[in-house]
Amino acid sequence: MKIDHRLVKILQHAQSVTVLTGAGVSAESGIPTFRDAQTGMWATFNPEELASPEGFQRNPRLVWEWYAWRRELVQQAQPNPGHVALAELERRVPRFTLITQNVDGLHQRAGSQNVIELHGNIGRVTCSAEGTQVHEWATSDDTVPPRCPNCGAFLRPDVVWFGEMLPREALQAAWAAAEMCDLFLSVGTSGVVEPAASLPRAARHAGATVAVINLDVPEQNQPPLFSIHARSGEWLPALVRAAWPT
Ligand code: APR
Repeated sequence: MKIDHRLVKILQHAQSVTVLTGAGVSAESGIPTFRDAQTGMWATFNPEELASPEGFQRNPRLVWEWYAWRRELVQQAQPNPGHVALAELERRVPRFTLITQNVDGLHQRAGSQNVIELHGNIGRVTCSAEGTQVHEWATSDDTVPPRCPNCGAFLRPDVVWFGEMLPREALQAAWAAAEMCDLFLSVGTSGVVEPAASLPRAARHAGATVAVINLDVPEQNQPPLFSIHARSGEWLPALVRAAWPT
């Protein structure tokens, strides 16, 4: 795969790189995206019922079981070459921040360290009343979702649902990373949900080169803006190879 040599040069000289990822990066690990017209999660399931506080209130069992199914899917999945390339990029670049909207933890499993999780992590569980993280709980068929061992409220996945606030510290760190980078990559996200739409713009305003990589955008390479129609599992490793040939 051919990578634009101007982008390669910018990466080689960058002191600070920030990457924003979305579901597209995990698609090649077999985890469905959200907005694909055929196979996307929200084409098959109703987000209002499954990923909102109101949906949880209406049918907590359904929501818990749906997340349990997704957790299983994620546990069986493996990081793909796109995840691995991002971990490699972190080792190569002086300052590197990975902002992700994914809740699957695959970036960390691939070796990424400086990861800002904007939408939480499906592997963690919190108390729906206290908001505290819970590590152990009793399970039985009659109590689904399980109850908080401290206060008895339902447990829930530690993810951000529709209508909920994003974690403040993560959001602040994401803005700072967007505004201080030389190169910003937006990979595998449709950019429909905030702040994914605004972060690349903030980076651009602050003077960074911005490249958007997904399967929606038409090819357009006009520095400082690049939009690249490619699969992240192919493009990201090709970028790293082009910048640091071994
Ligand atoms: N490589 C690169 N991009 C891909 C690939 C791939 N192999 N497969 C799909 N894509 C792109 C699609 O072209 C699309 O632009 O990934 C994007 C996926 O978009 P969405 O399904 O909207 O996922 P995302 O942007 O992560 O959604 C953001 O919305 O529903 C909420 O909380 C959910 O975190 C999610 C947020």
